[in-house]
Amino acid sequence: MKILVTGGAGFIGSHTVVELDKAGFEPVIIDNLYNSNRDVLEGIKQISGKDFPFYEIDCNDSEKIRELFAKERFDGVIHFAAYKAVGESVEKPLNYYENNLISLMVLLRAMAEFNVPNFVFSSSCTVYGQPDAIPVTESTPRKPANSPYGNTKAIGEDIIRDFIYAKPGVKAISLRYFNPIGAHESSLIGELPNGVPSNLVPFITQTAAGLRKSLTVFGSDYDTSDGTCIRDFIHVVDLAKAHVKALELLNSESPDYYDVFNVGTGEGYTVLELINTFEQVNGLKLNYTIGPRREGDIEKIYAQSDKVNNVMKWRAEKTMAEALRDAWNWQLKITAE
Ligand code: UD1
Repeated sequence: MKILVTGGAGFIGSHTVVELDKAGFEPVIIDNLYNSNRDVLEGIKQISGKDFPFYEIDCNDSEKIRELFAKERFDGVIHFAAYKAVGESVEKPLNYYENNLISLMVLLRAMAEFNVPNFVFSSSCTVYGQPDAIPVTESTPRKPANSPYGNTKAIGEDIIRDFIYAKPGVKAISLRYFNPIGAHESSLIGELPNGVPSNLVPFITQTAAGLRKSLTVFGSDYDTSDGTCIRDFIHVVDLAKAHVKALELLNSESPDYYDVFNVGTGEGYTVLELINTFEQVNGLKLNYTIGPRREGDIEKIYAQSDKVNNVMKWRAEKTMAEALRDAWNWQLKITAE
């Protein structure tokens, strides 16, 4: 099966390309390189020993997308390409709505036109907001998004649901990712944040590498065991494998199927627990201070992963310690370059 991977040079996309190949799929990468670069393609090549087709295309460019769909006969699409910075989305909402939603509609139209049957969408646990009870299941009610970024994921899911309901001959799955961390164990691909990282683990590894002075832990007065926020941190390679499972499930489903799945480990850890694990597994001390809460942060969330375990036969295999070791090895590699 030939699979179009949009944003295939990005963090989750690149790891998914590697897993698709391992599982016998043929990935074709498109990326506009807005938040990634060509070196990632070299890393993918070194891991897999293959040079997958790559097109520098923006998913909002409907002409180029149609040309591509006419040329390559895809069997499925995994749509990663999107903007994802929560803070930036508050400042530039129209950029987020335009980029994340038009691209989605361009792709869905092309799929209907060129009879591409399988679609996997990158959604996020952000659609749950601060849930009333944890862990969250897929039927936990969604809450109004607390950022334009989060809203593009909620609206994206709704667009797909309504599109499938109209029987376009497409099947789809939205994967609600929890917090992806880590890197490929080869250290050939990993996360490449643009500028100052806003996510926790890249900030930690850059601080440990001496690129940043100190990490600020945002808030220690939350209602959790040590006062810091709780998240469900999932190794990016495990998350990548969930996309392979999603495609396999879609293949076995009948037309007009649509469903959503949480993709998390099912376990929550606090920010301080993650920092302690990072220090232990890598044998180093991290420079950090406790600061005020970050606006818009969710106090605690983690997945109930029964549905993805049972229906997709997928479960997270790697530990948070492995993810933090891989993240650190990747940081060492890119710092040395
Ligand atoms: C956020 C989004 C999520 C999105 C993800 C992608 C929300 C609620 N979540 O996840 O939807 O997919 O970004 O970028 O909008 N922290 C620190 N110091 C730091 C950085 C982070 O203490 O320097 C803490 C945060 O307060 C939070 C935890 O670490 O408690 C994780 O933060 P982060 O990595 O930014 O992810 P989320 O906010 O969970």
